[in-house]
Order: sequence, then C-alpha cells, then structure tokens
Amino acid sequence: MTSLSRRTLLKAGALMGAAGAIGAGAGALGLGRALAEPNRIDLQARPLDFDLTGKGLTKSMMTYGEGTLPPVLRARQGEAFAARLLNTLKEPTTVHWHGVRLPNAMDGVPLLSQPYVYPGDTFDYAFTPPDAGTFWYHPHCNTLEQMGRGLAGMLVVEGKDDPVFDAEIPLMLRDWRLGGNGQFIAAFKARDAAKSGTFGTFRTANWQEEPNVEAPTGGLVRLRILAADVTRIFNFTLEGATADVIALDGNPVPKRFALDTLMIAPGQRLDLALRMPGTEGATARLVDIRGSQPKLIASFTLKGPDLKRNPGDLGPLTANPVPRFDESAAENLDMVLSATADSAPKPSICGTLGYTFWAINKVAWSGDTDPTAPLSELKLGRSYRIRLANPTPHAHPIHLHGMNFVVLSSNMRQVQPFVTDTWAMLPDEKVELGLVADNPGDWVFHCHIIEHQKAGMTTYLRVV
Ligand code: C2O
Ligand code: CU
Repeated sequence: MTSLSRRTLLKAGALMGAAGAIGAGAGALGLGRALAEPNRIDLQARPLDFDLTGKGLTKSMMTYGEGTLPPVLRARQGEAFAARLLNTLKEPTTVHWHGVRLPNAMDGVPLLSQPYVYPGDTFDYAFTPPDAGTFWYHPHCNTLEQMGRGLAGMLVVEGKDDPVFDAEIPLMLRDWRLGGNGQFIAAFKARDAAKSGTFGTFRTANWQEEPNVEAPTGGLVRLRILAADVTRIFNFTLEGATADVIALDGNPVPKRFALDTLMIAPGQRLDLALRMPGTEGATARLVDIRGSQPKLIASFTLKGPDLKRNPGDLGPLTANPVPRFDESAAENLDMVLSATADSAPKPSICGTLGYTFWAINKVAWSGDTDPTAPLSELKLGRSYRIRLANPTPHAHPIHLHGMNFVVLSSNMRQVQPFVTDTWAMLPDEKVELGLVADNPGDWVFHCHIIEHQKAGMTTYLRVV
C-alpha cells in the first residue's frame, strides 16, 4: 500500500473503537508481536466489557487481542504467517481461518483437526496463505455463543500485484442480541433456529452503529466487506458513489456485476472498488436493502482535494492459484440439505443448542462433537462435481473448509463461475459445484447460519 492509503486507513480505523488508534499492522492493534519470534502474532481470546451501544458497558463480550476493536490482521500471499492463540476465556475455544487454503492441522475444528484449547492453554497456528484477498477468522467451538459475543476478526492477505487504491476500508458487519439494557439475551430461539435463524437486535459495522468513515474526495477506495453475523443475509446498494464488485470470498470475480444482484450471507466477503465523487464534504452510503426497510450500514464523508481518479487507473486483481476443475474427469457427489428433527443432539464440550433441526444427506451433526463418518472419501487430486440440493424453504450459505470450489450451474439463476469457499443456496435451489480435492485431510462442510450448523447442518469430506 502507498503511504497515502495507509494514512487514510488509519483515519478509517479510528472509527473502530473508542480507544482510538488502529493501524494497518497487527502491532498497531495491540496484538503484540513476541520478541523472540518477531513474525508471530499473539492472539489472545479474552473476555471484555465494552460500551457497544453508547449507553454503558455491555458485559461478557469476547474479542481477540488487546487493542481497539474489532481486530484486522494482515498477512502476505506466499509468506509465512504465524499466530499463537492464548485462551483467557473461561471455556475451550479454537481458531478457524475461514477461506484460507491451509494444512488440515491448522484448520481449527476440534476433534477433526486439533484438540480443544482449554482456558490458560495456547495453540500455535502457522501457515503460508496461498491466496490474496479478504479472509477472516473465528472460533469453531461453542460458536453461536463465542461469535455472538464478539469473537471474529478480518484477515487481509495482501498480494504482490494488488492494485493501489487511495484508501482501504475494512467493514465487519454483524448484529448483537442485546436487551433494552444493552446486555446479552438468549443467543437463539428454538422456533427461529428451525427457520432462518434468530436475528440480533442491534446492528453494527466495525462494532459501531451506522459509522461514518472519512474517504478521499474523487478517490478510489477498496471496501472489504465481511458478513460476520451468525444469521443475517444482506443485499447491498451504494448511494452517492459508483461501486464495482472486484472480489467475492477472497477471489477476483470473473465479470463485474451490479452490487444489488447477489445476496451476501454469513461467512462471505465482498470486495468493492468505489469511485468517490469529486465534491469534498459529500457523502456516500452503503445500504442493506434486503429487509422490508432499507438499513444504512455505513456512510463515507469525502475529505481533501479532488483526486480525480479514474476507475480505469486500477489494474485487475490477479487470479489466485486455485487448481482448475476438470469437467471431463469429474466424479459426482450428491448432497441434500434437509430439515430433520429425529435425532437427539450429542453432548459436546463445545456446547450444544439442544436441538437437531437440520441435516445433510439425512445425517445431523454439529461439527464440533465426536465425528461419525465422513460423508465421502475423496481421492487426492481428483475433480468432483458436487450436486447440491436445497429442498428447504430457507437459504443456506454452505461453506467448505480447506479448499475452494467453482460455481458451475444453478437451476434458478444465471451464475458466474465464481471461485469461492461459501455459496449461499436459495430455497429450492440446485447447484453444481466443481471441486478439486487437492488438500489432504478431513474438511468440514456446513451451513454458516450458525444455528443451522450447530443444529445438524454439518458434514465433512475426507481427502486421502
Ligand atoms: Cu467460517 Cu466452519 O467456518
Ligand atoms: Cu442453513
């Protein structure tokens, strides 16, 4: 990044927490780098009381790191990244690096790829991100509760040839389930968990309600949007500036498309190139138009002299080195998402909702209790055509760990061959997803509406 964009990011970052400074590097976030190993970040999962609503402290929140909130980590494509998780919560946790194609032992799924990290214990994560883009990290243990209370952060992987923007703004979107007194209420309602999930009561971007961020007049801005909520699906529109979608879930999009035509569901990331208008003091607004009432997510107020930038000044994003799906040699793999109510949930160190409402191919599993058998054993290096059906009346953002897939077709809409780790299935949709099983290990495949995941809509694939 240029120093200009770094400065602007600092300004943008100032909105991210009452305590002030936040920067581009993990060091500036207070995620202190250990002296002996300068490249390893200390990532402390910790309890927190924080004035989220502006009306007093919300008690028993959770976060990563010691700095301002929420944490944004940065790594470089093709360069070693390391983080030591220190668990100072009162319960076990793990970290999953969502969307990063990494070795199975670093994937953060208890029992399947690593032990629980108990209170007071540490776990060392180390990997070299092969792909540039917008990723994130969150726990994979008692996930509804831990994510619901705040545990999640963005991971930006910088590429060597990333186009240079005048500013970069991370936006981490999420709701909180708070009562009128600003304190947490029950994380879910069973009748909602059996439908589209239980919605939060207080909506935020970067832990702030409708934040206003400074942006350069007439400048080109990279907006990195992360849908980090456990339930909410978005349809975005931008007022007062032009926006091009440049990447979905970390990968450059094959063709630019209109912002409001694709829903963005829990787990997903959307990178936008914004061209700001040339009038200092003007405002642009990011709005969610999915609900019955449009909802302002964040606004951008233009500052400084008109940079008069042209979107044509930006080079394209470089495609990530994801292996190419081989249509002619692919084997089929059939999967059906279903509603089920017939098996009792298994007890779990990582918590249970007490219900199994959902299943994949009729098996209900929560993803963090003792695994049964993998849904399928895939041969290392082979291509698979996942034929995925959603006969339920609800949307399900399905997420695969450890590997990306390409969206081949849908029975309901025109799709681009997006390369992604999460695909938001519409009700009654059937899709074909092309996967190259190039990463050995046991990889979870689950709905990212966390109540659905935890109430059974989880399975795993074994690659050997
Ligand atoms: Cu972000 Cu298993 O998920
Ligand atoms: Cu779901």
